Amino acid sequence: MLISGTGTNLQALIDAPDIDVCCVVSSRAGAAGLERAVRAGIPATATADEDETVAVLEAHGAELIVLAGYMRILSAAFVGRWSGRILNVHPALLPAFPGARAVEDALAHGVKVTGVTVHLVDAEHVTADTGPIVMQEAMAVSYDDTAAEVTERLHRIEHRLLPEAVRLYGAGRIHVDGRRVRVSG
Ligand code: GRF
Repeated sequence: MLISGTGTNLQALIDAPDIDVCCVVSSRAGAAGLERAVRAGIPATATADEDETVAVLEAHGAELIVLAGYMRILSAAFVGRWSGRILNVHPALLPAFPGARAVEDALAHGVKVTGVTVHLVDAEHVTADTGPIVMQEAMAVSYDDTAAEVTERLHRIEHRLLPEAVRLYGAGRIHVDGRRVRVSG
């Protein structure tokens, strides 16, 4: 799992009894998510260097790379190497509001509905937050909602959706057809 921050999505995967988080790499030293990994006895590395990240993932035999709040753009070489095996979670209904300020951007736009997207990161879409969509869940927004409140509610959805997507991947139920994903079974 690749993180840069608090790692609440990492925690959701750690807490899922049927999901094995083999290693955690944080692009930022001191990220709270690293502490979560250490507490769970999961090998944790702080590095922003991509070659070092690859080495860690390979050393632990990572089968699926999960990005949650990972603040670095991966190279085409990295994405090509794990093509179809990288999931990202994003706090908006893509393709609306990509980027690091998705919640703020959605609220500033005045949307009445936003949500969570879990998508694959692929070689043609190395820029952030594109790639075939695996799961989405919508959530209503009120005029008075603050970004903090919306982020908190979206997190609760993320913590359910991301483990579900990892399980679908593990069960071989994610089939990519161009931009479209068929979930079988
Ligand atoms: C999540 O909201 C995710 O959608 C976004 O970054 C945030 C990471 O949160 N890409 P956390 O570090 O998992 O708590």
